[in-house]
Amino acid sequence: MRGGRLGIDSDPMKRDYLSVDDLSPEDLTGLLDLADAMKADPTAYRDRLAGRAVALVFEKPSTRTRVSFEVGVAQLGGHPVVLNSSELQLGRGETIEDTGRTLSRYVDAIVLRTFEQERLEVLAGAASVPVVNSLSDFEHPCQALADVLTIRERFGGPGGKILTYLGDGNNVAHSLLLAGAKTGMTVRIATPPGFEPIPQVVHRAAEIAAETGGSVEVTHDPEQAAKGADVLSTDVWASMGQEAEADERALVFPIFQLSQQLVELAAPDVLVMHCLPAHRGQEITAEVMDGPRSVIWDQVENRLHTQKALLLFLLGLA
Ligand code: CP
Ligand code: NVA
Repeated sequence: MRGGRLGIDSDPMKRDYLSVDDLSPEDLTGLLDLADAMKADPTAYRDRLAGRAVALVFEKPSTRTRVSFEVGVAQLGGHPVVLNSSELQLGRGETIEDTGRTLSRYVDAIVLRTFEQERLEVLAGAASVPVVNSLSDFEHPCQALADVLTIRERFGGPGGKILTYLGDGNNVAHSLLLAGAKTGMTVRIATPPGFEPIPQVVHRAAEIAAETGGSVEVTHDPEQAAKGADVLSTDVWASMGQEAEADERALVFPIFQLSQQLVELAAPDVLVMHCLPAHRGQEITAEVMDGPRSVIWDQVENRLHTQKALLLFLLGLA
């Protein structure tokens, strides 16, 4: 565990969720089972966080993450504290360690959206309460929970299914690689040359897949990747923080657009996914995004249920 490495307040036994790889395949299945139960009967959990507070810290913009965590904590009877870094002393140079130590004296968990993954690791080392990664440049592990729940809901079980992700080998791709591998899926990532997921993540996902019966493929051929796929997913071509590269990226990504032509190569009951926000006409066509195979709005809703389950799991209140 990371706890205890950097801060006097750390509890070496606490659980953080900084990467999908912080959950074993069994943890992941248990957490998704809990999310199913909470979705089916939300009122049964309405006092589970009574008397507890959760800090939601944002160093980047957010719509879904902010609202789903804030509402989710409130639905569990807890108190969400939403903090934009520009309004915190963090924005004036207070360290992430001191911010973590301070927040730990007031709240029961800290959720952080930030840039470098290292900031989350430093925060988790200094905080005595669980820390959740609600998106970094490296991973988006909360999104992957919602995505796998959505796939399970439609197919009864993700094992053996082919999950194809088209576009940038970014934070969302990294978390899908790991989550797909943990749940026994075949994960295909199709990117332009130079935009592959980082090799360490691909290697780790392949290692996990070898244990779960899944597999991992990285390719530059979108059509090959789409053939027979059970899930087609994509994300923006330029992530938050990469705005200056958007024009340059727009030259190399168009053949990876999630189009009707690629949908037709996939399985007839393919699920179309996108973590949002989307740019219709860029990484996905309006026809596909708003078409009959899209489960995008279920993904949006499932952020709420999976994150509520995650908080109970990390706090030992499941
Ligand atoms: N998918 C997702 O994390 O959306 P937001 O950036 O709106 O939170
Ligand atoms: N890859 C995107 C995901 C947004 C939810 C980004 O980091 O901006």
